[in-house]
Amino acid sequence: MENIDNNGLPDQDETLPGGTTRRGFLTQITAAGIAVTAAPAFAKAIDVVNTPAGTDIVTTHLTINGKSYTLNLDSRVTLLDALRERLGLSGTKKGCDHGQCGACTVLVDGKRINSCLHLTAVCEGSKVTTIEGLAQGDQLHPMQEAFIKHDAFQCGYCTPGQICSAVGMLQEGKAHTDAEIREAMSGNICRCGAYQHILEAIKEVKTA
Ligand code: FES
Ligand code: FES
Repeated sequence: MENIDNNGLPDQDETLPGGTTRRGFLTQITAAGIAVTAAPAFAKAIDVVNTPAGTDIVTTHLTINGKSYTLNLDSRVTLLDALRERLGLSGTKKGCDHGQCGACTVLVDGKRINSCLHLTAVCEGSKVTTIEGLAQGDQLHPMQEAFIKHDAFQCGYCTPGQICSAVGMLQEGKAHTDAEIREAMSGNICRCGAYQHILEAIKEVKTA
């Protein structure tokens, strides 16, 4: 039987099969590879990523989670595929690949975008922040902490996009009421229907 804490939410310290706690499992999902990426998050190293073959290679310079990259990629490669397939930043998810679900949301120069709809080359010179870059070392971003606290996901597939979108939305400063937040987040679909808990998580960060 599921443990329920005083807020009516599952016990975050409940031990799951395999020995990890629920909180530990949720942290892994929301951080989406924090352990792998925390170290280079603010490094100055420059990585060069090449496409082995192609007829229309474009060189693009990006700063991703604080690290500089030179990408030599086919001009048709989307930012989503560059992140996931070329750079190994698989925290950003591919849902529809057509701009309809929001799973691929990242921040480009502080603004949230659907990375499946943006060609990498168009982002030349931009600063990209993915779910892996939100944390500061071992310290999760407040939005990540709020999602864990409010149990704002089930399967977690939409969660990196939800969190990046929520961070971008708050920076926009336009959504204030519950209805406005729901509208501003309507581009991020959650098939598990965790919308009410997502709203509560966002509101906690908004008022903090
Ligand atoms: Fe980009 Fe669905 S994968 S919006
Ligand atoms: Fe499963 Fe949102 S938590 S799709």
